[in-house]
Amino acid sequence: MDLGLRGKKAIVCASSRGLGRACASALAEAGVAVTINGRDRHKLDETAAEIVRATGAHVTAVAADVSTREGQDRLLAACPQPDILVNNNGGPPFRDFRAVDRDALFAGVVMNMATPIELVQRTVHGMIERGFGRIVNITAIAVKLPVPGYELSSGARGGLTAFLAGVARTVAPHGVTINNIMPGYFETDRVRKVFEATAKAGGRPTDEVVAECAACAFLCSRQAGYITGQNLLIDGGRYASAF
Ligand SMILES: NC(=O)c1ccc[n+]([C@@H]2O[C@H](COP(=O)([O-])OP(=O)(O)OC[C@H]3O[C@@H](n4cnc5c(N)ncnc54)[C@H](OP(=O)(O)O)[C@@H]3O)[C@@H](O)[C@H]2O)c1
Repeated sequence: MDLGLRGKKAIVCASSRGLGRACASALAEAGVAVTINGRDRHKLDETAAEIVRATGAHVTAVAADVSTREGQDRLLAACPQPDILVNNNGGPPFRDFRAVDRDALFAGVVMNMATPIELVQRTVHGMIERGFGRIVNITAIAVKLPVPGYELSSGARGGLTAFLAGVARTVAPHGVTINNIMPGYFETDRVRKVFEATAKAGGRPTDEVVAECAACAFLCSRQAGYITGQNLLIDGGRYASAF
């Protein structure tokens, strides 16, 4: 399916591995020039080379901490007028809520709420001016389904979701959509570590990452222009509810 994105430019935050990388690859396949990001320069360059090899797309690699102002400045210097922004980042560590002190609390809120909001603030104006923009935030199933030990993830990402729900309606008339993808359990490095840490067996096949990245690319497509302010749960039916 032609997503109508050929020639567009995207910033995909935290994309040297895992879900971010999958989203960047799917957009590159759709003909988007992608700016990818991670803190580990070596891994990032490796990923950039692999995406170029697989898709032939234009890939720029920005090694930076996206949670910092300086990191965001560098991403925006590399791609000053993105048509697409995929907000992704690390997530808070598994921790009993009583042990989440003030510093950890603020760090989680900066990582999973303030950082994506700041990037939306810094990119949405240009999207509005150009009459086209796609913003996808990778949040978590924890927004809907509380997971003990991940209260900070639920709280910060729930805050992000609520904050942007109104913004999405404000920018929609200008051709800009904002949606959230809530992954369930995808077998990435992060989840493998969680499973190891909690000594639980399981996880979903790596193939499911394909479902997540395809959803991200579709939400960025021209055809998805009438979908905004939505939260798309991709968890293989794990969260059981009628609505
Ligand atoms: N996988 C799942 O099933 C699942 C479920 C629910 C929610 N999520 C959420 O989805 C997000 C991605 O998860 P994942 O499983 O794909 O994780 P992952 O496999 O550990 O990959 C994380 C990626 O983010 C980069 N990164 C982390 N912190 C960064 C920072 N401060 N600045 C720039 N890049 C950064 C990492 O590169 P460097 O380490 O080199 O910086 C890496 O490329 C997380 O927020 C996670 O909580 C995932």
